[in-house]
Amino acid sequence: MMKKIEEARTFISERTNLSPEILIILGSGFGSFIEKVGDPVTIDYKDIPHFPQPTVEGHSGKLVFGRISDRPVMIMAGRFHLYEGHDPATVAFPVYVAKYMGVKGVVVTNAAGAINPEYKPGEIILVRDIINFMFRNPLRGPNDERIGPRFPDMSSVVDPEWARKIQERLGLKVGVYIGVLGPSYETPAEIRTFEKLGADLVGMSTVPEVIAAKHCGLKAIVFSCVTNMAAGITHGRLSHEEVVRTTKMAQGKIEKALTTTVEVF
Ligand code: 6GU
Repeated sequence: MMKKIEEARTFISERTNLSPEILIILGSGFGSFIEKVGDPVTIDYKDIPHFPQPTVEGHSGKLVFGRISDRPVMIMAGRFHLYEGHDPATVAFPVYVAKYMGVKGVVVTNAAGAINPEYKPGEIILVRDIINFMFRNPLRGPNDERIGPRFPDMSSVVDPEWARKIQERLGLKVGVYIGVLGPSYETPAEIRTFEKLGADLVGMSTVPEVIAAKHCGLKAIVFSCVTNMAAGITHGRLSHEEVVRTTKMAQGKIEKALTTTVEVF
């Protein structure tokens, strides 16, 4: 794995001199944030050694290096999901590449369904903890001690100090995200179960990347954009089109959240 990380890093370093401080992973519908990047250098995933290729519509696949509020960032426009058939370790791979490019913090974004009835579509929630309900883990298999420990501590997944500074500026609602495999949405009975488990939001991403970030010692922040109420919370049916439409409506809030997160790091 170290060799693959090194090959991807070398390829990227030949195309940009920027030493990013923060990796931002953009979920479905968050893609237009890359228009805010100053002096962008774009690299297609398909050109980077060992990078996987996204398969979902509405997810382009490129890395964008540049500046947000003058701070150097690396942005993943298009992410990988387990439901596409990728292994968890593949989904996590770009996080390790970012680590070896010098990144210190990771911001993971996602579109999620609201289990908590107080949330509304279009709202941005600051995730305070996650539940891995994917029954998969990117760290399964041999561990490379140079990258991180065999048994990483997950007792504060989201960096408390970074989250506190974000909250000083934004005062967002907070909640627990449960990550499921997908790609089918949940049944109302499953959502009632997740509510009992303590989840406020449900989605099909984020967990592998956050585990990888904690493994290699990166600070993490997670934002969910509520795109719809989960099954049985309201009576509407769920569709990917609705998810994409709502994240488009939330663009302004997303941009503000991400810019603030970079500024206070
Ligand atoms: Cl309701 N469920 C899951 N698993 N992912 C979602 C969602 C729901 N809404 C947006 N993404």
